Amino acid sequence: MRQAGRYLPEYRETRAQLGGFLELCRSPDKAAEVTLQPIRRFGFDAAILFSDILVVPDALGQKVSFTEGEGPKLTPLRNLEDLSRLGMDGFQGSVAPVFQTVRQLRQKLPEEVTLIGFCGSPWTVATYMVEGGSSKEFLAVKQMAFKDSGLFQRLIDLLVDASFDYLLGQIDHGAQVIQLFDSWAGALPELEFIRWVVEPTKRLVARLKAARPGIKIIGFPKGAGVLTEIYALETGIDGVSLDSSQSLAWAVRTLSPKVTLQGNLDPVVLLAGGPALERSVDHILETTKGTPFIFNLGHGILPPTPPEHVSGLMQRIRG
Ligand code: CP3
Repeated sequence: MRQAGRYLPEYRETRAQLGGFLELCRSPDKAAEVTLQPIRRFGFDAAILFSDILVVPDALGQKVSFTEGEGPKLTPLRNLEDLSRLGMDGFQGSVAPVFQTVRQLRQKLPEEVTLIGFCGSPWTVATYMVEGGSSKEFLAVKQMAFKDSGLFQRLIDLLVDASFDYLLGQIDHGAQVIQLFDSWAGALPELEFIRWVVEPTKRLVARLKAARPGIKIIGFPKGAGVLTEIYALETGIDGVSLDSSQSLAWAVRTLSPKVTLQGNLDPVVLLAGGPALERSVDHILETTKGTPFIFNLGHGILPPTPPEHVSGLMQRIRG
């Protein structure tokens, strides 16, 4: 996730060779290289494309920058005039390098390693676009959704269109599974959750499945709590990635096997290591025994995580 790679010295080395982070996302050779690094080291079953969810607003014409230690910065989108400046004109040209990365990866990865493409969900990407960066309270974006829902709907619709084109390109260049990151799904109350998280995701999933039947889609509605049930069952996704606060036993009872489960080891447990890590891994494996399940973290790996903890985790899972 957004932390990915930074725990590996080989990532930090490649990263240092380029100026900006988005430059890395737009350099197919380098982006493919950092995608392959953890696969070589740990032998995971799947690789996730190295890119970022904020590639999409950037390609729509909203300036995005990353400053070390400050997180992403965007020119905040607050009104119709701001929205009118954005559009699909330069979109394909801007995301073309990401498609080249996907193509290279499919050629370079061992055949049995699944390649996962991704984008942010419309709601989560909209939070960054309206707030102008990361946020704790989401005051601007939630107020827009509550008070100016016509304008907000236009933004969400633009993001559904852009995400569709972006994901279709990834699929056509070799992505075999798609993951939708909805990191801030938990910021909305129930009615707005349905309107701005479930509905746009459902539309995006339906369009992708109509265009490319058979494509598998995983959704990650972080922080959605019990609303995860509506999300998992209504959007048409094939798999749901659960954050670490979710009960896997609940998910097994409620969602499985209609939807494949993924998750949900706490990244801090992986950082801590030792008996707590072993206990948590065993708990996850026991709870999901006999159920279709993809072992994953509940959120992004933390930069200070010792790589040996990751190899220990792999040994524990594979026995
Ligand atoms: O996991 C992978 O290897 C795939 C790559 C990936 C990145 N971002 C690379 C990245 C993925 C899947 C993402 C998704 C992403 N990006 C999300 C959704 C998942 C989540 O973590 O909740 C979000 C919300 C973002 C937005 C984003 N990108 C933020 C807030 C930041 C700054 C984080 C910080 O602490 O500074 C990023 C930057 C980013 N994206 C990095 C990486 C490896 C760090 C850049 C660096 O090397 O300095």
